[in-house]
Amino acid sequence: MLEETISLRYKIAGGDFSNAGYASSQIKKRLQKLNIHQKLIKKIVIALYEAEINVVAHAYNAVIIVNIDNDKICVNIKDNGPGIPDINQAMEKGYSTASSKIREMGFGAGMGLSNIKKNSDKLEIRSKVNEGTEINIINYRIYPRNENN
Ligand SMILES: Nc1ncnc2c1ncn2[C@@H]1O[C@H](COP(=O)(O)OP(=O)(O)OP(=O)(O)O)[C@@H](O)[C@H]1O
Ligand SMILES: [Mg+2]
Repeated sequence: MLEETISLRYKIAGGDFSNAGYASSQIKKRLQKLNIHQKLIKKIVIALYEAEINVVAHAYNAVIIVNIDNDKICVNIKDNGPGIPDINQAMEKGYSTASSKIREMGFGAGMGLSNIKKNSDKLEIRSKVNEGTEINIINYRIYPRNENN
């Protein structure tokens, strides 16, 4: 079988709630056209959507790169933003620094990062205060002892 990586690239603008979720929905359509297992698409899109909303709510701008390999799908979201001073604290369910304006729009429950973790086989988060945050969400296409791919 031909080994090749397909790469998708999207930009996200911080603060732009009118377009929040657009990149995730476009990527979902692209994954569906590539005949990727529905359960895998669901995991990736849930995690990606939360990461996209986090950029809109907490950062300035970002680039999403999705690399589709034969064995795995990697989503990289790299933002310019304030960064996360304490990643372990940010990962806690219910922890949020969201403003009242963001909470009024229905975000800010502090569940996004734990939802990303739940929907990733492997999650890497790197962040530098006053620079930005980079998230890698990795999901494998073939699980040993599991029929889902
Ligand atoms: N890209 C980011 N840049 C800067 N800070 C972030 C970023 N993503 C998350 N954070 C910080 O981590 C906290 C927790 O994020 P998480 O997504 O779990 O919750 P939330 O965005 O506050 O609320 P929810 O996702 O439930 O709407 C945020 O409140 C924010 O302080
Ligand atoms: Mg969030």
